[in-house]
Amino acid sequence: MNSRRSFLRQFSAAALAAGAAPSILTRALAQQQQAVDFPGEDGMILRSYRFVDLESPVGYFNTWLTPVPRFFIRNHMHEPSELDPADWRLSLGGEVEKPTTLNLAELSKMESHSVVNTLECAGNGRSLYQPQVPGVQWGKGAVGTGRFSGPRLRDVLQRAGVKSTGKHVMFRGLDEVPGKVPPFIRSIPIEKALDADTLIATQMNGSALTRHHGFPARILVPGWVGAASCKWITEIKVLDEEFAGNFMSPAYRLPNEPVKPGETAKPEDTHPVTALSVKSVISGPAEGAQVRPSGVAVHGAAWAGEADIVKVEISTDGGKAWSSAALSQQKARYAWRLWTYQWKPGKTGDYTIMSRATDSHGRTQPTTAGWNPSGYLYNAIDEVNIHVT
Ligand code: MTE
Repeated sequence: MNSRRSFLRQFSAAALAAGAAPSILTRALAQQQQAVDFPGEDGMILRSYRFVDLESPVGYFNTWLTPVPRFFIRNHMHEPSELDPADWRLSLGGEVEKPTTLNLAELSKMESHSVVNTLECAGNGRSLYQPQVPGVQWGKGAVGTGRFSGPRLRDVLQRAGVKSTGKHVMFRGLDEVPGKVPPFIRSIPIEKALDADTLIATQMNGSALTRHHGFPARILVPGWVGAASCKWITEIKVLDEEFAGNFMSPAYRLPNEPVKPGETAKPEDTHPVTALSVKSVISGPAEGAQVRPSGVAVHGAAWAGEADIVKVEISTDGGKAWSSAALSQQKARYAWRLWTYQWKPGKTGDYTIMSRATDSHGRTQPTTAGWNPSGYLYNAIDEVNIHVT
């Protein structure tokens, strides 16, 4: 184990033993921005210890499917500590003809469908906004791509018979809610709930979901911010209006009109954050890397929520000239595209490499991401600074 990791381990153990407030520990760990050993997870960056929040180093974005131990984890509260699959039940009620309860065996008997989806936390990149925004200070790695499998949500909804008054579908997870914190309950519009690709996923990358990712079942709302995809699902309720609760409002909302950095928006002038933006991230070479003048493969990933990536361009001269990167063959409707660009710098010196993605909705990554009070959907042109020696 390298000395930094062992320091972090000792530091966290000592701080916990001394009863340090988790936020102090979390902040200290976040400042280190270093990978730590976390049981079963592989070299991830610890963003919060109290409620497990782990980020992938961007160097991991070199496989189309993100291996589960390298997939980011975002928890608003404690994961369910005890969850016996034999006792697990999923209730379905509200604006339906026949309220139903399913157990895991019944759910598993339903036709399974698979969707390869890039799951990104709405707050991914929050630490890059200026002025700084409160919340988990994610770098660039609260994103990953998985093959999610399970019954379609619409099959379960249709079994219960959605009434014409059913306009939104609410999900409740089994998180253990600390103190007076409001539970993690959110809703999505009925149209997205009935989409053939919206799932009650029980598998990720061909295996049962792990506890961190929502065992035994989670919702998968493809192309939308990760917050829509409720983990440890236990209740589905069809509503006649959007769910009114903390995680729908004030959380997870964007101003209807852009606000100046540092300004707020009135609640009535905001809307829920839904689909992801167009975005690319350079996964190599790493920030500060030394490369040879003979050449280097610049590589990374690009995604656009419900839209397709049509091109990724690379600049090696600070944004004056742009050349197209090659997009990898592997693709799926809601999944990122890996890309590479062979660069021969020729001359030694310091360089800034930039990547800029464009999608099928005609959106291109901006030079500066649209600042918003909660720091959502950061998607500025990515860059790394390297030395050619
Ligand atoms: N579901 C529950 N029940 N509780 C949560 O805290 N976090 C959400 C979502 N589903 C959350 C949840 C958020 S904000 C994100 S980004 C994704 O789960 C992250 O999914 P992952 O941890 O499997 O990567």
